[in-house]
This record gives sequence, structure tokens and C-alpha cells, in this order.
Amino acid sequence: MDRLVIRGGKPLRGSVTVSGAKNAALPAMAAVLLTPGELILENVPSLRDVGTIERLLSFMGVESREVAPGTVHLTSRAVRQFEVPYDLVRTMRASVLALGPLLARFGKARVSLPGGCAIGPRPINLHLAGLHGMGAEIDLVEGYVVAKAPRLTGARIHFETVTVTGTENLMMAATLAKGTSVLENAACEPEVVDLACLLRKMGARIEGAGTATITVEGVEDLTGAQHRIIPDRIEAGTLAVAAAITQGDVLIQGCIPQHFEAVMAKLQEAGAAVAVEEGGLRVRMAARPRPVDVTTEPFPGFATDMQAQFMALMAIAEGRSVITETVFENRFMHIPEISRMGADISVGGRAAVVRGIPCLRGAPVMATDLRASASLVLAGLQARAETVVHRVYHLDRGYERLEAKLQSLGGEIRRVED
Ligand code: EPZ
Repeated sequence: MDRLVIRGGKPLRGSVTVSGAKNAALPAMAAVLLTPGELILENVPSLRDVGTIERLLSFMGVESREVAPGTVHLTSRAVRQFEVPYDLVRTMRASVLALGPLLARFGKARVSLPGGCAIGPRPINLHLAGLHGMGAEIDLVEGYVVAKAPRLTGARIHFETVTVTGTENLMMAATLAKGTSVLENAACEPEVVDLACLLRKMGARIEGAGTATITVEGVEDLTGAQHRIIPDRIEAGTLAVAAAITQGDVLIQGCIPQHFEAVMAKLQEAGAAVAVEEGGLRVRMAARPRPVDVTTEPFPGFATDMQAQFMALMAIAEGRSVITETVFENRFMHIPEISRMGADISVGGRAAVVRGIPCLRGAPVMATDLRASASLVLAGLQARAETVVHRVYHLDRGYERLEAKLQSLGGEIRRVED
């Protein structure tokens, strides 16, 4: 398993371009199951999770080929099996995004229940309740969801909890249902909006994406389309924290600042200069950060996917901050590892109290999940001496060549392949 070796203490300077958004690319690729036409997706990031969904789709019979870096052509004319096996769902929970499209287009699906993951149990009960409400027959057989629906019917679906992939699954299912569906308490994330934009290009009739109420009028069929995936707001936020934690000056190009205003506001509160500039966002920091309290919330609130990264910054703040995780049950796996670098963090339920110290100390640390591994890299960029981050396959799930991007900004970071 690869590891990253980092020597911290150097301010990052220069400009860097963010890649396409993992959490927009995954549902966009699943959407190919909704049409016999060809999808042409641009700005698709080269990530482990993208590779996983490509394997899943080709396992079903979808043809996909990368015609240029980041440009993928997909067609699902020849789908011959409708199962999403456990070993793929276990690897990547987002595989459940095949469920809605399979049911909507083919009337059947056998999808493994996701089981838990490092950050929490992560059930799909809201996905299943919504599909049942649209007339699907849902059975649980030997750890698999077995779903049937000759034709889904439009329904009013209220999500008791905001769920991003739940909203995406039901929105995709509703595009081919008979009649109109209304999704209430829907997720408003930019990735949901991007998926709706793609679906509309395919002929879907969707209103309200980006708000808490999405209305979908079902159509008989959908066509192929061409679409450019939005930039990754979480990668952009991670790079912004990298600039702040190293007291650097970085221009993050290609990002959409409106997609992470809550994170930018907290960085400014911590003392960073954050300015929208030509083509992106410039982040500068000239001193240790001020302590800032953060509570994660669904969009447009502070993204849970940025919680671990921001905690690394608060670990060196000039005082005490409280970071509260409201979205997932167990998203503090990075704390024991950052603490081995000298951070002073105590956890009580969903809140972590961070008492900032002037400087972290390099140490060997272990990545446990995608964003925890990003936070360890950020901590290593600030720490004196050497940090070795093990199990960076977690990082590779959601960041495209992160070490190369950080090297281009002057970061002393290199990958050692086992
Ligand atoms: C998406 O996961 C993202 N993944 C996650 O990003 C992100 O952290 C999360 O949304 C929250 O923003 C993708 O988009 C591929 P949820 P998702 O359903 O959809 C509970 C990353 O780092 N819930 O919005 O799986 C659930 O347990 C990943 O890139 C139910 O109870 O998350 C959680 O507590 C990690 N029942 C809360 O809702 C359900 O049926 C939000 O989960 C569904 C969800």
C-alpha cells in the first residue's frame, strides 16, 4: 500500500487547478442506465471511486471508453444484468446510485445493502422508502435489495433526513416514472443541481433542483447528452485549507466559489484573506489562524466533507474551537491520528474541542477514510520534521494526484509505492 512522505513547514505558493467533482461524476455516470443513448461526460476526474463505478457499469454491460483525458463516452444499450454485487457496494456506497435508474428503465434491480463504513452505518432506508412510494416492490433477501416495478408511478416523497444520494437516486427514478413526483426536504448540494442539469439535457422535466423541493414530470424515454462535470468544491476547500495552514498564498483555479461559501466564510473568520479572482479563488494567510467554531450541515451549510480538513487547521489555532459533526455518527476517525502529531483535541459525543498549539510534530499516521486522510496530509504540511501517511488508497478514492498538486505549490511531499 502506498504512503505519502511529507516534510512540513513550507508556505504553499502559486496556482493550482481543481479537478472535476467526484460526487457529481458518480451520479452522472450512473445516469447512463436511464437511456439507450450515448452520454459524453467531460472533466471526469481520474479517481479510484470513478474506476469502481466504471467497473460496476461494465459488469452490467455498459460500454465506456475514455476518448481523451477526463472525457468518457458511455452507452448502456447492452445492459444484460441488473445486479450490483456486495463487493462493489462494500467498496463504494455510491454504487447504490444504480438502483433508481435500473428500476426506472428496466423495472428490476438486485443491489447489495451497503453495510457500514468508517464514518457511520449509512443506511439506505430513505432511498428504499421513496422507491416503494413510487410503486416498487422491495424485498430484502440475503443482504440484497431485490426491487421490481413494471413502471414506477410519480409520488410525493418527503425525506425525513436530507440525503444527497437519496435525492439523486429518487430524482433519476422519477424521470421515467408515470406522472409527476415531488421530492420534499431534498438535498440542495451543487452535485444534485449538476445531475439535474445533465438529466434535463437528456430530456427529463425537472424543476427546483438546488432547493428543498424538486418536481419531476415523468417522460417515456431519455436521450443521450453531453455534459461537463462541475469542479470539485471539496478538493477546492481542501486546497484552500492547505494554503491557510502553511501561511501561504495560493490561487485555486477552476473552482466555483459559490459552491463553498460557508467554508470560505470560516477561513476568513480564522484570519485568511479570501478573494475571488480571475478564474478562481485566492487564499492567503500570514499568521496562525484564530480559533473558529464550526458545525457541519447540509448545503449551503459547512460541508461535513470539509470537517476533518478544517480541524487540522484549528489544531494550530491561537485558542480553543469547537467542531460539531451533525451529519455522520462517526466522522472523528482522524482525531487519534492528528493527536499523535501533538494536537490537543477532546471528543464529547458529536462535538470535538480543539485547543490549538503553535506547531504540530511529524509522525507516522494512518489514513482511515477519504477526508481523514486529507486532514492528515494538511497536518503534515504544517508539522515540523517528517510525517508519513499510510494507506493513502483512501485518499486516492477522492483526490486526483493531490501530491502532484501540492508539489507544484512548493510542498515537500512524495509518494512511496509499496
Ligand atoms: C453523500 O453521501 C456524499 N457522497 C458524501 O461524500 C457526503 O459526505 C454526504 O453526501 C453528505 O454530504 C456522494 O455524493 C457519493 P447522505 P450520502 O445520504 O448520500 C443518513 C465524500 O467524502 N441517511 O446525504 O451517502 C446518513 O446515515 C463522501 O466524498 C439515512 O439515515 O450521504 C447520514 O447520517 C463521504 N438513510 C445522513 O443521512 C438514508 O437512506 C446524510 O447522508 C440515507 C442517508
